[in-house]
Amino acid sequence: MLGIDIVKNARIESALSRFGVHFLNKVYTTSEINLYKNNTQFLCGRFASKEACIKACFMAFSIKSYLKDFEILKAQNGMPILNILNQEIKDIFLKNHLKAFVSISHEKEYTVAVCYITKEEVIC
Ligand SMILES: CC(C)(COP(=O)(O)OP(=O)(O)OC[C@H]1O[C@@H](n2cnc3c(N)ncnc32)[C@H](O)[C@@H]1OP(=O)(O)O)[C@@H](O)C(=O)NCCC(=O)NCCS
Repeated sequence: MLGIDIVKNARIESALSRFGVHFLNKVYTTSEINLYKNNTQFLCGRFASKEACIKACFMAFSIKSYLKDFEILKAQNGMPILNILNQEIKDIFLKNHLKAFVSISHEKEYTVAVCYITKEEVIC
């Protein structure tokens, strides 16, 4: 199952400049905020990824989820690491041996992200 989202970078920049820390706290987890280091591109990628995860989970399980149900950190090699924080979704993943991944790409004006849900066996 796939979910996709595209973000206009200016929208995130505008929300950040208008609402500052309130915007950050509404959308991002503490770990994401700690990784952001004034890099708005990082926030755009996380926003698009969270929306993509929400779509993928709704399509796969008909569950409504929210931006802070998903946390996207960064591996040492730059690869995004998705943590699912919603217990109901976590349980479904565990029970059905599912894994989810996100992939992000940036351009000057837009950022896209996809979320891919698959069975664990397919990956190994
Ligand atoms: C991944 C890579 C193709 C990015 O391509 P790009 O066209 O320059 O940039 P894009 O905007 O399309 O992609 C950037 C996103 O790719 C993702 N990315 C970075 N490194 C990645 C990796 N190793 N695997 C998967 N995704 C990666 C990140 O999510 C990044 O966005 P973010 O910084 O907001 O999280 C490029 O960085 C690459 O080839 N990296 C090789 C990985 C590597 O060995 N890096 C050495 C550092 S240890």
